[in-house]
Amino acid sequence: MGDAKKLYLKTYGCQMNVYDSERMGAALAAGGYVEVAAPEEADLVILNTCHIREKAAEKVYSELGRLRPLREARAAAGGQMTIAVAGCVAQAEGAEILRRQPLVDLVVGPQAYHRLPEMVARSRAGGAAEIDTEFPEEDKFDHLPQGRSEKPKARRAPAAFLTAQEGCDKFCAFCVVPYTRGAEVSRPVAKVLAEARDLVGRGVVEITLLGQNVNAYHGEGPDTEGGGAWSLARLIRALAGIEGLARIRYTTSHPNDMTEDLIAAHAEEPKLMPFLHLPVQAGSDRVLKAMNRRHTAESYLRLVERIRAARPDIALSGDFIAGFPGETEADFEDTMALVREVRYAQAYSFKYSPRPGTPAAAAEQVPEPVKAERLARLQALLGEHQAAFQAGCVGPTLPVLIEKPGRHPGQMVGRSPYLQAVHLDCDPDAVGRILDVEITGAGPNSLSGRRPAA
Ligand code: SAH
Ligand code: SF4
Ligand code: F3S
Repeated sequence: MGDAKKLYLKTYGCQMNVYDSERMGAALAAGGYVEVAAPEEADLVILNTCHIREKAAEKVYSELGRLRPLREARAAAGGQMTIAVAGCVAQAEGAEILRRQPLVDLVVGPQAYHRLPEMVARSRAGGAAEIDTEFPEEDKFDHLPQGRSEKPKARRAPAAFLTAQEGCDKFCAFCVVPYTRGAEVSRPVAKVLAEARDLVGRGVVEITLLGQNVNAYHGEGPDTEGGGAWSLARLIRALAGIEGLARIRYTTSHPNDMTEDLIAAHAEEPKLMPFLHLPVQAGSDRVLKAMNRRHTAESYLRLVERIRAARPDIALSGDFIAGFPGETEADFEDTMALVREVRYAQAYSFKYSPRPGTPAAAAEQVPEPVKAERLARLQALLGEHQAAFQAGCVGPTLPVLIEKPGRHPGQMVGRSPYLQAVHLDCDPDAVGRILDVEITGAGPNSLSGRRPAA
């Protein structure tokens, strides 16, 4: 351990980045890197970045600004801090990053992570700055080791992400993802199942299948079972057959890919958790059309009805954009009306942020104060519904997967089936177990509970 090189890995953005960071950490661990919790002593700093909104993208530059003196201090002390920018900003901005921040040594896009260890080695041996933002033919996952990196705060995490699908062909008019992550690609069934079994072997009991459009999954099936492409529903049913795996989730889903077999899986597969993130973005058909979402508010509402008919207790979550170019007050009211009809258990909402290279960025923009005011109204409504959902969970007993220690001694934190954090006092050895917990209190973002008397 004494000679181990230190890696500081900071992750921004979505769960896909969290997953990718784990895989990069694991790949570098094979080359002798151990993760540390702060950048000061790091030999290698990786910023795994997000380009989805302007604020997200700008964070990388302020972080790089903070790293400059640390890197200089390392060099003055005879050390060497290599700095790599990975993720979606790397993909979108490439060489521009080096122009803005010459202290960056490596720029590596999300499809080139398997090349990172050699890039790092070349850089540390005195090589020039390198940029790799290609979409290579080979699958990065074939070259990144299985398993998970050692986190600085070693914890046995019983819940894991598993990327099943990556990229997007939908080209919503506001979104950079099709450009930063590339075309939609599904990993073969056999690989997803092998990785799931490996995770379960390491103590994982809950798997969240990831993809930018995970319900568009169409991975190649194993020959032994007829081959052909499998749907996400079929993949979930196969996963459910893995002994020791207790819970399955998936995210993110596009409404147009919510097939009948997937809805049926929610009714029939008890391991599939009753929570669904199903972004709609807006409630006005005119805006939905301009966004290139290819569905209407009405078709979305009917879809929600079918999902709720299959699984009445399902908790729905959504994403919303306020102030998309051309959105009028009446359009925005349509969004509010849709929200009132669905009553989301939880949601994310954002002001529209023009992204370079996307069609909507060139359109006439809604003034900033109007966007801000609409977002505030939307968030107030979403917050009311979330509070009502949280309050409705108080009283009954829920099965809670114990994940990690809480803030106070003796306290642990787990997850309800509806993805809420639940705080309770219990034995720290219960990590990885699903306990019945009587829900006694609700805050805006979490629940509290106690073990029912035996
Ligand atoms: N693949 C997912 C979402 C990916 S991005 C889906 O299709 O639903 C996550 C969320 O960020 C989006 O759902 C959208 O609400 C928001 N978003 C994306 N681009 C944005 C932009 N330019 N401005 C504001 N919000 C944006
Ligand atoms: Fe972006 Fe739309 Fe693709 Fe989601 S479906 S990743 S919002 S382009
Ligand atoms: Fe951000 Fe890239 Fe994810 S832009 S949201 S990190 S796919």
